[in-house]
Amino acid sequence: MIDEKYYRIFYPKQVLLITTCDRDGKPNIATIAWHMPVSVEPPLIAVAIGKARHTKKLIEATNEFVLNIVPESLKQQAKLCGSVSGKRTDKFGASALTPEPSMQVKPPSIKECLANIECKVVSSYDASDHVIYIGEVVHIKQSEKKEGEKIRVLVDAEDELSGYEKP
Ligand SMILES: Cc1cc2nc3c(=O)[nH]c(=O)nc-3n(C[C@H](O)[C@H](O)[C@H](O)COP(=O)(O)O)c2cc1C
Repeated sequence: MIDEKYYRIFYPKQVLLITTCDRDGKPNIATIAWHMPVSVEPPLIAVAIGKARHTKKLIEATNEFVLNIVPESLKQQAKLCGSVSGKRTDKFGASALTPEPSMQVKPPSIKECLANIECKVVSSYDASDHVIYIGEVVHIKQSEKKEGEKIRVLVDAEDELSGYEKP
């Protein structure tokens, strides 16, 4: 019998914020740790999104998403965006994170993040309780690092940030 939290063996993992929006442009943010680059040319990234997530519905509405690289300083915001659903909560409002227009896609970027990776979905795969979306990177915005500045990205050491709301 495999423990249902078997995936913890892969931690620590870098935590990202994924931004999406509906066809009217209403945005949402969710926290994800299941992501990886899967091709260099073309540049492709895979994300695994739970079937009950509002994020899944929104990715399918526009076929676009933005992956935002999170500094450690945004740990509380990442906890929030990973514990409530955009079905009920305006997470930009609740987290006080700032939406910024993206360059090539409709979902906004998060201003406070270290980089914003804009993606267009090129394929998707059913993975039982998650769907894997493959996004082609169409634009990357990276914030300038000041000389000598040490910025750490947010890492979830052992699934400690999660406190999932029931779908
Ligand atoms: C640290 C952390 C990592 C997470 N990683 C993922 C993930 O990779 N895929 C996923 O579908 N949900 C993940 N979640 C759960 C979602 O962020 C959570 O269910 C969120 O409420 C979904 O919001 P939505 O319904 O607005 O899409 C993670 C949560 C946390 C706190």
